Amino acid sequence: MHVLVTGGAGYIGSHTCLELLDAGYTVSVVDNLCNSSRIALTRVEELCGKKINFIELDLLDMQGLSQVFSRHPDIGAVIHFAGLKAVGESVEQPLRYYQNNLIGTLNLCEAMAKHGVKHIVFSSSATVYGTPARLPIQEDFPTSATNPYGRSKLMIEEMLADLHISDQTWQVVLLRYFNPVGAHPSGRIGEDPKGIPNNLMPYITQVAAGRLKELNVFGNDYPTIDGTGVRDYLHVVDLAKGHVKALEYTQKRSGVFIYNLGTGQGSSVLEMVRAFMEANKIDIAYRISPRRPGDIAECYADASLALRELGWQTEYGLTDMCRHAWNWQKNNPEGYPPSA
Ligand code: NAD
Ligand code: UFG
Repeated sequence: MHVLVTGGAGYIGSHTCLELLDAGYTVSVVDNLCNSSRIALTRVEELCGKKINFIELDLLDMQGLSQVFSRHPDIGAVIHFAGLKAVGESVEQPLRYYQNNLIGTLNLCEAMAKHGVKHIVFSSSATVYGTPARLPIQEDFPTSATNPYGRSKLMIEEMLADLHISDQTWQVVLLRYFNPVGAHPSGRIGEDPKGIPNNLMPYITQVAAGRLKELNVFGNDYPTIDGTGVRDYLHVVDLAKGHVKALEYTQKRSGVFIYNLGTGQGSSVLEMVRAFMEANKIDIAYRISPRRPGDIAECYADASLALRELGWQTEYGLTDMCRHAWNWQKNNPEGYPPSA
């Protein structure tokens, strides 16, 4: 089957393209490269010895998007990663986030409907659970949002569910990721944040590389095992494989399918720092800083539904996540080289 991957040049998208190609799918990617590099896809092609049909395009370009489907009438499903994802930036620039994430998705769905493609896998996030009342988090927990990024995810989830109500032949899959980290074991593709990283793991690897002086641990007075924030970190390759499983399971089923993708295990910031130091035999300097506004104390998944229905569970552990993250950073200290 031919799968269109929006945002396929990005961190999770590039790893998913590799898994799709390895599983025998034909892959087209639409990406405007606003937060990624064309080189990621060249490296995916090198890793699996197969080609990707890359189209540099903004999802806001409705006409261009429609042409992609007319030119490739065999596209049978879409995995939709394309979106802006920085929480803090979304608070400062809400209109840009709504414009890009909502209108981009609206355009995509319109083009899909017009061309009779009704199978979509959407990148949602554990952020839609807001501050959970209990742990681990199950898919039927109440949802809420505290910032424009999270709200855009919730709105898109609802929009896609409405689409299925209006036409029950739509196959809608909402994947709620917990905290993806790490990189492909080859060290050829990985996370390449622009500027100072917002997220914990890329910050740690840049401290390890000497690009940043020390990690700021945001708060040590949370009601958690050691006072620091607890999250459910999962290896990006496991996450990528979850997309292939979700695509396969929903191939012949219509409905709205919601899955948590996580390990089911919470780890604190200090546990992550220790795991990184032990896995890589490198010291990470850190200091305790004030809490980051908007952070919650603890968040980890009940991922048993994905295991029951998709037959998916994570295979990599914390040591692999830390080793592979460092392997990527070490081999690509400045991220991907500038495109020629
Ligand atoms: P990423 O920024 O690496 O990838 C997103 C890709 O989308 C980039 O290649 C970017 O260039 C592209 N893009 C953005 N807007 C576009 C547009 N209008 N038209 C075409 N391309 C566009 O991010 P990622 O970490 O790979 O995340 C992928 C998806 O998963 C995002 O939707 C993100 O919100 C979601 N998600 C990520 C995390 C995480 O921690 N990384 C957690 C939960 C959910
Ligand atoms: N943290 C630090 N120092 C840092 C960065 C993070 O102490 O420099 C802490 C945070 O306070 C938090 C934990 O490390 O306790 C994880 O923080 P991240 O920023 O890596 O991840 P978040 O859980 O805050 O958010 C991420 C994505 C969101 C997504 C969410 C759930 O950034 O977009 O996971 O999938 F919604």
